[in-house]
Amino acid sequence: MAPIAVITGASSGIGAATAIALGRHGYQIVAGARRVERLERVAGEEGLALALDVTDESSVKAFVREISKRFGRIDVLVNNAGGALGLNPIAHAIDDEWIGMWKTNVLGLMWVTRACLPLLRKAKYGHIVNIGSIAGFETYAGGAGYTAVKHAVRAITKTLRLELNGQPIRITEIAPGLVETEFSVVRFHGDRNAAKAVYQGLKPLTAESACRRGRARRHCEPARPACPESACRC
Ligand SMILES: NC(=O)c1ccc[n+]([C@@H]2O[C@H](COP(=O)([O-])OP(=O)(O)OC[C@H]3O[C@@H](n4cnc5c(N)ncnc54)[C@H](OP(=O)(O)O)[C@@H]3O)[C@@H](O)[C@H]2O)c1
Repeated sequence: MAPIAVITGASSGIGAATAIALGRHGYQIVAGARRVERLERVAGEEGLALALDVTDESSVKAFVREISKRFGRIDVLVNNAGGALGLNPIAHAIDDEWIGMWKTNVLGLMWVTRACLPLLRKAKYGHIVNIGSIAGFETYAGGAGYTAVKHAVRAITKTLRLELNGQPIRITEIAPGLVETEFSVVRFHGDRNAAKAVYQGLKPLTAESACRRGRARRHCEPARPACPESACRC
């Protein structure tokens, strides 16, 4: 049976490119997001598209229940669903945007990970890949809501390495820089001109090139089972 890869937020951008790349590499993919029609196009005939709203724990549980019923295990979990909302300085921070970012990037990631762990333990070797960001290392004016949640993703990733030490589940964080996806359109609530301006004069990565770079780093993966220090290098 092909290894099972679950990708959250697979209806666009980095998640869609990751799902397609993993499918091409022989994984049985399970793609989750809210826009199911788009997911189905990404999953194709071989993949499985399942509705998922990571901000709703009952949706997360139903998603994982379905995976359990169909496959009984997960080999790779890519926690990719996430993004930014707004670019206001803290003095003008909008509560709903901060709550939305927290629920999608942090609480959602925890809910998905907690629900998937029993299935990851059923695989011979499990692998959790959290999509962090350079915003988990750096800050910028107007970006506190987003940089705070990506710092939190980094903290969760490092904590998982400690908590799963000795178990055959590797933990990886991918921290991309600027990638041109729907990210900025979502951040600016559908304002495509504002989104376009973000990339003016810059050469952002594409979602596909971000995935290729992630894959290229696999050469440094250590022999299994994973240990926290070795996982840090990838
Ligand atoms: N683009 C960048 O410059 C950049 C840089 C570093 C890190 N990242 C990170 O990369 C990840 C992917 O972003 P992207 O650039 O590919 O942006 P994107 O094109 O906007 O994709 C975001 C994905 O997340 C999904 N999503 C959002 N809210 C969700 C929810 N409540 N439940 C389930 N899925 C949800 C969206 O699907 P639905 O709307 O269909 O649910 C979509 O598939 C994010 O974690 C982002 O923070 C992006």
